[in-house]
Amino acid sequence: MLGNFSYCNPTKLYFGEDSLQYLNEELQKYGAKVMLIYGGGSIKKNGIYDQVMSILTANQKTVFEDSGVMPNPTVEKLYEGCKIARDNAVDLILAVGGGSVCDYAKAVSVSAYCEEDPWNKYYLRMEDVDNKIIPVGCVLTMVGTGSEMNGGAVITNHEQKLKIGHVFGENVFPKFSILNPKFTYTLPQYQMVAGIYDIMNHITEQYFSGEDDNTSDYIMEGLLRSLIHSSRIAVHNPTDYEARSNIMWIATWALNTLVAKGKSTDWMVHMIGQSVGAFTDATHGMTLSAVSMAYYRYICPYGFAKFRRFAINVWDVDPNAKNDEQIAFEGLDRMEAYMKEIGLVMSLKELGVTEEMIDGIAENSLVMDGGYKLLNKDEIADILKKSM
Ligand code: NZQ
Ligand code: ZN
Repeated sequence: MLGNFSYCNPTKLYFGEDSLQYLNEELQKYGAKVMLIYGGGSIKKNGIYDQVMSILTANQKTVFEDSGVMPNPTVEKLYEGCKIARDNAVDLILAVGGGSVCDYAKAVSVSAYCEEDPWNKYYLRMEDVDNKIIPVGCVLTMVGTGSEMNGGAVITNHEQKLKIGHVFGENVFPKFSILNPKFTYTLPQYQMVAGIYDIMNHITEQYFSGEDDNTSDYIMEGLLRSLIHSSRIAVHNPTDYEARSNIMWIATWALNTLVAKGKSTDWMVHMIGQSVGAFTDATHGMTLSAVSMAYYRYICPYGFAKFRRFAINVWDVDPNAKNDEQIAFEGLDRMEAYMKEIGLVMSLKELGVTEEMIDGIAENSLVMDGGYKLLNKDEIADILKKSM
């Protein structure tokens, strides 16, 4: 375990099929005015909206609704939300939805009282918050992003063809999050598997970095094994509570800052995937699955030891059967077979990417330097071409 770090996660979690009742307790900590943020209407169809509203009413809250948060929330929508929050001087933002709704809620919480354009300040200049932050609570309905217990808030600017995540500090993490696995049962299969791969990729983005003996890597191998096991059950039986609840819990631990401790972390699949998202508005997890295999096969030779360990400890490749190189690539072959088995999108064409877009996507991919190979734009373009 190398490096110097501090660790603190201030989000209080309530987990399980009875967890929504704890909203009563949490609401008492805040003033009367609650901004209720949700997406395109799934919570009205599955009854979660009614359950949340009845708790808000029972606690005498005045509710200001902000609905229609789209998957991959946009900067224009963010400006609208800021106005609602500011004009009504809300005391709490309650996000009921998936990562898009939770991310958007955090973006509104830091932007409502921001005196300049929040896109320029937080997303282009990556500055910290220095104004009032409205507290956020989440009721999660889609699993994958980890947004329920982290400071991430990803916003898309279609005009500039940029999709950028700002990872805010502890002061922006949700104050509480309610995780009821049954709330995820109504997710379409496509979204469920996209979320499963988002989790897997959050883990591999952090795992494939560094060469020291690091406890975080052992935790991640355990999380991956549990995810592979439970996801195979969930794709055949989406209402298997044990599998869905495990997946929900893994998602939270995959990206709540714990497993990043002592790691340099890579994040290049996400940087390329987000740029694909800016050009296509495709589902986040599928942008990651489409580029992953070309990316990992390309960087594998630069991090053989870790890819070999991944093959053996996560995919059960026999360490004695072959040479190190064959073992490392065999792990990736098994990962690819698993991805196809659960129904992930494996090609960018399927997400609407055309040959003409490739240079632009490569150009707008941010380059991070924590992984095994620092990529240039030509290498990113090659990975994109191989992912078509
Ligand atoms: O809008 P509604 O009608 O609610 O429908 C949503 C949406 O269409 C639907 N859905 C959610 N819960 C449902 C449901 N449908 C039926 N039943 C339910 N229980 O699912 C669709 C996708 O929802 P969304 O919130 O967009 O998905 P996800 O949770 O994958 O969030 C994606 C966003 O999070 C960002 C992504 O970039 C993307 O913008 N990320 C945030 C991260 C973070 N905060 O750390 C990290 C991630 O890497 C990711 O970048
Ligand atoms: Zn992700």
